[in-house]
Amino acid sequence: MNRKIIVFDTTLRDGEQVPGAKLNIQQKIEIAQQLKRLNVDIIEAGFPASSAGDFQAVKEIARTVGDTVSVTALARAVKSDIDAVYESVKWAQRPLIHIVLGTSNIHVEKKFNRSKDAVLQMGVDAVKYAKTLLPHVQYSTEDASRSEFEYLWKTIEAVVKAGATIVNVPDTVGYAVPEEFGDLIRRINERLKNLNDKVILSVHCHNDLGLATANTLSAIKNGAEKIECTINGLGERAGNASLEEVVMGLKVRESHYRCHTGINTKELLRTSRLVSHLTGLDVQVNKAITGENAFAHSSGIHQDGLLKDKQVYEILSPEEVGAESMELILTARSGRHAFKNAVEKMGFDTSDAADFEQLFEKFLALADAKKEVYDHDVFYLVTQHRTIDTSERHLYELESFQVVSNDLHPTATVQLKKGAETLTGSSVGDGPIDALYGVIRTLVGLDVQLKDYKINSLSRGKEAVGRVNIRIEYDGKIYSGRAMDTDIIKASALAFLNGINAVLLDADSARESRTESVSG
Ligand code: KIV
Ligand code: ZN
Repeated sequence: MNRKIIVFDTTLRDGEQVPGAKLNIQQKIEIAQQLKRLNVDIIEAGFPASSAGDFQAVKEIARTVGDTVSVTALARAVKSDIDAVYESVKWAQRPLIHIVLGTSNIHVEKKFNRSKDAVLQMGVDAVKYAKTLLPHVQYSTEDASRSEFEYLWKTIEAVVKAGATIVNVPDTVGYAVPEEFGDLIRRINERLKNLNDKVILSVHCHNDLGLATANTLSAIKNGAEKIECTINGLGERAGNASLEEVVMGLKVRESHYRCHTGINTKELLRTSRLVSHLTGLDVQVNKAITGENAFAHSSGIHQDGLLKDKQVYEILSPEEVGAESMELILTARSGRHAFKNAVEKMGFDTSDAADFEQLFEKFLALADAKKEVYDHDVFYLVTQHRTIDTSERHLYELESFQVVSNDLHPTATVQLKKGAETLTGSSVGDGPIDALYGVIRTLVGLDVQLKDYKINSLSRGKEAVGRVNIRIEYDGKIYSGRAMDTDIIKASALAFLNGINAVLLDADSARESRTESVSG
């Protein structure tokens, strides 16, 4: 029998926990819409009890993509968290409450400082309460791979009896190895099928030893029916199992695993790029499936073999993950129709005529500067355009700038706009970017520290576009900002302002949640 494996994507929850990968609500919706096109079965949209902003994002995602995709969010085993999940996911057609509680000795003793029986009872009570709200409840036995087997099973048995419909077994700290994890899943599966064969067995693997994909595949081989993963393997520390790797592993080796997923693999590359762009976290060039070199063959022997027959050195074709449909070359003369077609082919909506017109103007400006506009340029243009409306939110916009670079006194003069207000200033720095960031810092009046500055050229075409990613620290928190432009100094200024605007948006949402908790 060829089993269908349920794909649960947690890019917007575990993935977003990566420092600096904080996404705003529009960005989260953009990713959720792409996850829907990718055809994942369940989207974990966030941790609504953590902030008003997270609650709102989960609710909007449930509302916008929850017609065909199941939407869930994370709760600790406490009533207020479960209420927050219920209130935010209930807008979806198939909402699911996800509860997490530790089962390892270290979690029970150190985190909760309670007896094992008391912790188990907390889990049972949480499931019983969640079941009064929704029929579908997932229970995650946190740190399962380091738990004593009989206590782990006792917990699973109790939460299933309390009504859990999915049991998720996490390798929370990435400690497991494939043979051992497969064995654990086989043992749990044997008992679970005897207890209640309707309950779905799921796994959630972290990549601390680089084994998340291998452990997930081993779990599938041993009976897991559902997998949790993230795009580009994002997630806590070394990340989670990468969705694209597990899905393509199952597809390429279907005769071995006898399993399939419903994933539309032609959307993999596009999803990976969208997530990378919006989070500002690059995909390593040699990353399996979606890295820039994943399908590049450089040695003469390999190239010779490929020319004779692709299968000599290729186990999957770039077309299968959507590489070929990414190729586009547009110019300023391509016109509205061709540009619209290109944008729609990437899966973006163009039905708002005024919004499309603004986008087209930006395309013409880019095409004038760059001459040849490639698929990735269009992609970045759209995502950049849709990322944030700075004028409506009264955020900072760059009006104009001048930077003089020399080895004595590099100087920058900048004019910014914030709502109706215009701010102008100049500064000298150690270099042109230091001068530029110095004056912006003074104008916005925020003591932000630059932690990381990265510039890449988006290759191809004679006039490369510079993409700048920055990370800044403010009030102990890390924020990221990114921008692209044919002028790298301008891209640097825009990326820095993007990071500063993220600080302001975060402060706004913290203020909103304080107001809500005072009024509620
Ligand atoms: O790693 C983990 O244990 C988790 C749970 C919430 C599933 O992320
Ligand atoms: Zn996790």
